[in-house]
Amino acid sequence: MNDLIIKGGRVIDPSQNLDDITDVLISAGRVESIGGNMPSEAEVIDARGKVVCPGFIDLHCHLRQPGYEQKETIATGARAAARGGFTTVCCMPNTSPAMDNLAIVEYVKTIAEKEAVVRVLPVGCITRGRNGGELADMQEVAGAGVVGFSDDGSYVNDPRLMRRAMEYSLPTGLPIIQHCEDPSLSADGVMNDGIIATRLGLCGVPNAAEEVAVARDIILAELTGARLHIAHVSTAGSVELIRQAKKRGVKVTCEATPHHLTMTEERVLGYNTNAKVNPPLRTRNDVDALIEGLKDGTIDIIATDHAPHTLNDKLCEFGNAASGISGLETALGSLLALVHSGKLELSLLIAKLTAEPAKILGKPFGMLAVGAAADITIIDMDAEWVVYAGKFASMGKNTPLDGEKLKGMVIATIFGGKIVYQE
Ligand code: DOR
Repeated sequence: MNDLIIKGGRVIDPSQNLDDITDVLISAGRVESIGGNMPSEAEVIDARGKVVCPGFIDLHCHLRQPGYEQKETIATGARAAARGGFTTVCCMPNTSPAMDNLAIVEYVKTIAEKEAVVRVLPVGCITRGRNGGELADMQEVAGAGVVGFSDDGSYVNDPRLMRRAMEYSLPTGLPIIQHCEDPSLSADGVMNDGIIATRLGLCGVPNAAEEVAVARDIILAELTGARLHIAHVSTAGSVELIRQAKKRGVKVTCEATPHHLTMTEERVLGYNTNAKVNPPLRTRNDVDALIEGLKDGTIDIIATDHAPHTLNDKLCEFGNAASGISGLETALGSLLALVHSGKLELSLLIAKLTAEPAKILGKPFGMLAVGAAADITIIDMDAEWVVYAGKFASMGKNTPLDGEKLKGMVIATIFGGKIVYQE
């Protein structure tokens, strides 16, 4: 592999408080030096006027393999990740069969090793088959390198089982990643509960469906001392519950998605199934509370919850449509709207996509330190582009942003010193 110089970019690495116009030298897949003398014999990427930062880490995405290869594969999902500036993605275990045992985890790791252009880290199930009935082989899959346990897509409804799962997670040191949704409160709901649901004649999911679950699991995390990571937080009330829990020293972290940080329930008007997602898009008040939570540290990270579906999964009545947004390739562009409008600092946004998820994983990624793996994303902050889902690398074209203009794009993604995407 040739040496590579990324020349003259604004290098931002929140893990070392770095924000400087400088050069980055990559050698043998690692960051060799930042600034200083650059060798004359090397491939050069001209990054003048661009932002150079650590490759993004997505703690929450759905790659669908095995079992739902009509929606996405590990190979296509990883290519979508690269296009989105992500060099590490953690894939959720709601595959078929579910990732609840060693064989499936090993299968995903093997396919990822062979076919993925970025790093893919699997998440193991909490319960066998994600059925909520008995615990999965948590210790066994921990030994195989899963980065957390989750029944994402479903809530572990039995509090006693959840307590046991948390206790079993303790010796592994891994987080329980909980999909917080009390199913008796969300019931037949298909969008946010409120006036728009009433107007559309659709059943609503109240904020309380999430908050009741968040509150219960915070209490169980407090009881057990386990690490709890709350997936896709969507309501103002959840943010406040997590804020208070953190103040008490509960080991709780959480994520918000780009769509919950930038879109409201109005997106559903016209019965737009591409805006159907679980948890549902909420109100402006909730979105503002999420942004506030990002700023004060209550919300640790941004994760995409990339949930690719086929055209037919979405081309049907709203109630019957699958939930989820194909989000890897629009994450940065949509989030930069928060930076361009002055709501969020660029360095904080980058931290929530790099250093902070790395902390939760406890892995040495998400940084541009000398000696670290050369996982790097280069961004043109001002480039305007129109989302054309037909051109996604992801097989999931399901995005409510299709046809919309975004400002700011990933122009190159480097994984282990190799360019895996270039605009
Ligand atoms: O909208 C969603 N889609 N939310 C989830 O929790 C699961 C995901 C999926 O797997 O499609």
